[in-house]
Amino acid sequence: MKKTVIIYGSTTGNAASAAQTIAEKLGSGAVVKEAGSASKSDLTDFDNIILGSSTWGDGELQDDWYTFLPTIKEAGLSGKTVAVFGVGDQFSYSDTFVNAMGELYEAAKSAGAKIIGATSTDGYSFNESSAVKDGKFVGLALDYDNQSDLSDDRIAAWVAQISPEL
Ligand SMILES: Cc1cc2nc3c(=O)[nH]c(=O)nc-3n(C[C@H](O)[C@H](O)[C@H](O)COP(=O)(O)O)c2cc1C
Repeated sequence: MKKTVIIYGSTTGNAASAAQTIAEKLGSGAVVKEAGSASKSDLTDFDNIILGSSTWGDGELQDDWYTFLPTIKEAGLSGKTVAVFGVGDQFSYSDTFVNAMGELYEAAKSAGAKIIGATSTDGYSFNESSAVKDGKFVGLALDYDNQSDLSDDRIAAWVAQISPEL
């Protein structure tokens, strides 16, 4: 497996916990970085990049992402394989569920990445999400507020899905 970095933004620790669990399940020395302290070399040094964010405000990225997104634009991601994950609350924010994951997907796509890791929306209940394209989530959706007990299995299944492509 080629080298993988996981870059996340998290305010209350849920996306941070997801990032750590993804790294543990990936093994092979996957590196975990907070978006607020990541730098350009955290993109250029790795073949595989996993981007994750919780959703805040009215369907927005977690704050730390606003400092790092310009770096993604500047560095570009062509030749990179990217997977995205999002953390949200499907019941309280049913019209903007994990929208931040949709933002990360669009940013990676515009930067030229090959994006992998779409998942089924089965088992979730929400009205709308910009992270759904062609009937699927563009990455892994996690809900620690309502379905915390499912997160570990969802992460394990997703890591098994993406690993062969990394
Ligand atoms: C003020 C506020 C706004 C939120 N907005 C959204 C939202 O638009 N969509 C969503 O899916 N979750 C939303 N959430 C839920 C958080 O994303 C969720 O609690 C998440 O687990 C936080 O992850 P973190 O600890 O990594 O920051 C919101 C939560 C709060 C408190």
